[in-house]
Order: sequence, then C-alpha cells, then structure tokens
Amino acid sequence: MNLDNLLRKKPLEAYRNDIKTSQLSRTLGKWELTAIGVGAVIGGGIFVLTGVAASQYAGPALALSFVLAGIGCLFAAFCYAEFASILPVSGSAYAYAYGTIGEFFAWFIGWNLILEYMMGATTVAVSWSKYFVKLLHLSGVHNLPAWLVNDPVTAKEVALKSGISAPAFSINLPAALIVWVVTYILVRGIKESAKTNNIIVSIKVAAVLFVVVAGIAYIHPANWHPFIPDKIVDASGTSHYGLPGVLTAAGIVFFAFIGFDAVSTQSQEAVNPVKDIPFAIITSLIICTTLYIIVSLVLTGMTKYTELDLGAPVASAFSAVGLNWASWLITVAAVIGLISVMLVMLLSQTRIFLNMAKDGLLPPKPFAIIHARFKTPWKSTILLGAIASLVAAVTPIEKATKMTSIGTLFAFAMICAAVVVLRKRQPDLHRPFKVKYLPLVAGLGFGFNMLLMFSLDISTWLRLLVWSAMGIAIYFLYSIKNSKLNKNEYQ
Ligand code: ALA
Repeated sequence: MNLDNLLRKKPLEAYRNDIKTSQLSRTLGKWELTAIGVGAVIGGGIFVLTGVAASQYAGPALALSFVLAGIGCLFAAFCYAEFASILPVSGSAYAYAYGTIGEFFAWFIGWNLILEYMMGATTVAVSWSKYFVKLLHLSGVHNLPAWLVNDPVTAKEVALKSGISAPAFSINLPAALIVWVVTYILVRGIKESAKTNNIIVSIKVAAVLFVVVAGIAYIHPANWHPFIPDKIVDASGTSHYGLPGVLTAAGIVFFAFIGFDAVSTQSQEAVNPVKDIPFAIITSLIICTTLYIIVSLVLTGMTKYTELDLGAPVASAFSAVGLNWASWLITVAAVIGLISVMLVMLLSQTRIFLNMAKDGLLPPKPFAIIHARFKTPWKSTILLGAIASLVAAVTPIEKATKMTSIGTLFAFAMICAAVVVLRKRQPDLHRPFKVKYLPLVAGLGFGFNMLLMFSLDISTWLRLLVWSAMGIAIYFLYSIKNSKLNKNEYQ
C-alpha cells in the first residue's frame, strides 16, 4: 500500500467544478441560513439537559457553564467560517479536510460527523418522545404502556423503579415515528424544508423569549446564592459543584451548542455562500449563546437549583410557581421546536454523504442519487431515516447524547487543526473570511474541545474506538480503491 494515498488531497479546481455542476437549487439567503443554524442548535440541550447540569453539577453557575461551552464552540465556529469562505461546498469539515490535510483524515472526520448528525438526530428524537409523552399527559392521556414509549434498557429501569417485572419487548415508538415524519419533509425538498424550518424556529425562539419575559417576575435573587456552591465529592469520587462541577456541566451542556456548524453543509444551496455562510455560523452561535445564558439565569433564579426537574426543567419551573398554562405552552413549543433540530441534522447528514459519494469514498448508489423533481438526495435520505428511526427506537438517551458529543468534539478539534495547516501550506489562498490571531484562536479551540472530550467517560471512548475501527475498515476495503483521486478522475 502506498502511504502517500492516505495524504492525497482533492484539488481546489475539483471543488470549483463541484460547485458549477451541483444539481441542488440555490435558494437560501443569509437569514434562512441563520435560521437553519438556530433551528439546529436550540433543542434538547436547553429544554432537557439544563436540569441535570444545574441541579447536580453547576448550581446557579450553570450560566457560567454555558459561557465556557459557548467560548469553545466560538473558536471552532471561527475556524469553520474561514474554511467555509474558501470552500463554499456542502461537505462541511469533511470537505475542508479533503482539500487540506488529506483523504484518510477527511474520511475519518466524515465518519465522525455521522455521530454528530445522525446520532444527534437520534438523540433529539428520543428527547422529543419524552416531551410528546409529557404533552399527552398534560392533555389528560395517562397510563401509556411503558413498553411503547421507551427503549428496552429504559423500560427495564422504569419497571424496576415501579417494582414490577420488566416487559419482554419494548420500543420507543414516538421517537421512531417522528424520524419518519422528518424524513418525509426532507425528501420533498429543501425550499419546503427551509420554510417549515423558519416557522418552527420562530415558535421555538418565541418560546425561549417567553420563558425569559414571563419568568423574570418570578426570580428570587436568593436562589442565586451561593452562585457557585461548595464542591462535594460523592462516594464514587465524582465532583459536584465548585469549579470542577461547573466544568462537568459545561461538558453536558456542550450538546446544546451542537448544530451551528450544520449551516456549513448548506453551502451549495446558498445564494451567496462565501459571505453568508460565515455570517450565519457566527450569528446563530451568538444568538443561541446569549439566549442560553439568560434562560439559565432565569431558571436558576425561579427555582432553587436543588429542586430543578430532571425531565422537563423549563416547563416544570413554571408549574412550580403556579403557571400551568405557561408550562403547557412551553411543552407544546418544545414538541414543535425539537422537530427543527432533527430536520437540520438529517438534512446535513445527507449532504455530507452526497459529497463523500461524489468523491468516490461512498457508493454513488444510493448516496448520490438526486430526485428528478424534488432535487433532493432522496434515496440516501430514506436510508438514513430508516437507520435513525431504528436506533432511536432502542437506544437510551444518555448513550446517544455522549456518542453525539464525542464525535462532534473530535470533528471540531480536527477542524481547528486543519485551518492552521492550510494557512501554513497555502498562505496566499484567497480567504474572504480570515480569522484574526489564528494560531491562538485555533489552539484554544483545539485544546478546549479535547478537554471536553476527556471529560467523557471511558465507555464512551471505547464506543468511539469501535466506531473508528469500523470506519477505518470501510476506508481500506472500499474507499481507498474507489476514490476518484485513485482513478485519476480529478485533475
Ligand atoms: N443542540 C441541539 C440540541 O440541544 C443538538 O438539541
């Protein structure tokens, strides 16, 4: 085997050709792109994970955890934006690495982006099913069989807690079904998807603003004291509160930021990608970080951190002060809002597959087949929907969340490194968006994302190793031979 093959790079000319020959229609303006970013970001992280992060790790300093996680993402966002302005193609970090570091690394990053997007969509589908069940509950539908709304592991835990025997069979049906609804919307086309997304994002942002405006009057500043509670170490050696707790919480709420980079996968459908993609990446991240910080302050001001609900903390904070109608409104908005996260994640995944298939690293059938009328990669979308739906039906939420985070953190760290490599190798390349103080920004981005990776447990690392081994095997068995670069199809 010739090791040089692993480092071969896709020529920039081939990217320009991809842009010229793209069959996808250019319909997305800068605010639609920003809405895609916001649509992908605000979801299970703020609506669900804030409960566990504040009550068990950060206390009122949850806002600080959001600042820390947001800063790490912002460094990565700047690096994404520079790449997106040089290579306005839809393959995201995968495409950037292929044009700069080399084929094997590009494949490896692309393989990990599957964890971010496909696994991310799966995680959100599971969160969605929890809110959906809560909504049914608020609407008077009680006593749903546990085996119909839980994966087998969770169903067993629920049965154990209630002192009954575990069901022989269990499936998270709402999670599986919602993935199919999203798949249907995506097959119908990007413009329809963007319109649906805009409506959903408006509802979601309105709900978050509502939480702030309606919640402010119920803040008791005493709940913020002490802002960083004293550190406690439990019997298993895990630290709660204090600065270590704030860091752990930052690792948990990192999930809330995942998705801003999804904007970069829409380059070939953007009207003016060179300017608008960097704008949308950074703007959506800033909007979401600001909202998160304010919401976490309101939440921990309304409810003592020790009393925050773990399932639906935002909605429950309002029930706790007697505003049941507000709790109902927030639950409805969350049920609708989480759909847009899935929409963007699955959309992004199909665009990355499309790029990998065009480069020969994945089979063209089904990954590069575009529907004649809808102009969408429909077969790949349906395949992805089938896998995501199956995984959502049987996977517990914590496992899905951690796998999503580790894959995303890895991709972010690699992109920070790649932007520096490209600056060194091709300093004169035209960069419409150029990161200032690059070595520092990229170095902090790399370091921060690696630090958060190391805050994840050993079993998540082991799963990442198994996943990586599978990816490497596919690369050597299929991709290296079928790569267009191998067949000299790119000049
Ligand atoms: N950031 C997304 C969410 O919180 C993945 O649901």
